[in-house]
Amino acid sequence: MTREPRHVPGDAPPPGAAGGLAGAAGGPVAGAPLAPRVLPGEDPAAVAEAAALLRAGELVAFPTETVYGLGANALDAAAVARVFAAKDRPSFDPLIVHLADAAEVADHAVPADAADPRVGLLADRFWPGPLTLVLRRRDHVPGIVTAGLPTVGLRVPDHPVARALIRAAGVPVAAPSANRFGRVSPTRASHVVRGLGPRVRLVLDGGPCRVGVESTVVLLAEGRAALLRPGGVPAEAIEAVIGPLATPATGRAGTAALAPGSAGTHYAPGARVEIVDPFDPADRPRLVAKPGERLGLLAASAAGAAAARAAGGPFATVVVLAPDGDPVVVAARLFEALHELDAAGLDRIAAQPVPAVGLGRAVMDRLRRAAVGGQ
Ligand code: TXA
Ligand code: MG
Repeated sequence: MTREPRHVPGDAPPPGAAGGLAGAAGGPVAGAPLAPRVLPGEDPAAVAEAAALLRAGELVAFPTETVYGLGANALDAAAVARVFAAKDRPSFDPLIVHLADAAEVADHAVPADAADPRVGLLADRFWPGPLTLVLRRRDHVPGIVTAGLPTVGLRVPDHPVARALIRAAGVPVAAPSANRFGRVSPTRASHVVRGLGPRVRLVLDGGPCRVGVESTVVLLAEGRAALLRPGGVPAEAIEAVIGPLATPATGRAGTAALAPGSAGTHYAPGARVEIVDPFDPADRPRLVAKPGERLGLLAASAAGAAAARAAGGPFATVVVLAPDGDPVVVAARLFEALHELDAAGLDRIAAQPVPAVGLGRAVMDRLRRAAVGGQ
């Protein structure tokens, strides 16, 4: 069974658009503007333009009360992949999904978690504001947003420009801080311009950020209560409302799913994952299924799948991430594909490597972690 990537809006930016794709290529696109446009966030026409860009799969930087965010339509996996490209993020960390209103929590979290009375209590007390609640996600939230986790971080920001933008876009907005990987989070529009340049089309200027540190991240999934990241709302203030918060120690077994990035393997399917290059003759023996073995193929491109089929098999399941190997589509599809393969009851998955440049670095980081975890 060959699975084609499903169509996601915004795969192809309009001609001349720099967008986040410039980051995937490692530099500005020829003929593209060298700096993003900066528009006043209080201007409704600017907000409408930014909202239209988000709906079209483009990236927009916008102010929140904590730091400036680099936003994409959270329901558009390819747009979210461009966020990682623009940030040069070497791995996929889960992104916070920004909502216009607390009532929207029920749209994206499973009913049991959305109805947890503590969610309502914290939302009433701290939203809009610098608090992120991590709840089990509904299936429509793309895997790249949550880095393959079964949970999603949700937050209603307290900045009039952010709220106007999310409302006008009519979609939830996934946004990490609008800086390149390893750099300081931006608290002014000028920081975003300096840090990201043409990797973002448009920056809405909302002045300096009031809080200046990121939101507090609290896990409330499945009845638990844990502080995952200290931030703009003091933990004591949260505990005063819902009682004690656990603080998961990093690196211990079992905490990887709670505190992403704290362990080597934060998403690994049940089957053993091996990185196997179908174009490398030395790797080819590992493309051959052993007697009785259910072998799956995770191909980055159609050419990779063809080379793997020619060299090995039989494959119980084949997933082609992107026919032409487009790194944006490969990244956008990766987590869903791992879930698909996981569900296929395989013994082993042969995963085609991609060049570790641009978004490919993040793809390879995740594949390597999956490979370590399954062994
Ligand atoms: O204030 C903020 O939170 C800013 C503004 C833009 O909203 N955003 C921000 O995003 O700081 P970022 O990507 O830099 O940090 C997101 C944090 C990460 O530490 C991540 O581990 C955690 O939120 N997070 C997000 N989703 C999660 C999930 N499903 N499970 C556990 N942690 C999650
Ligand atoms: Mg950040």
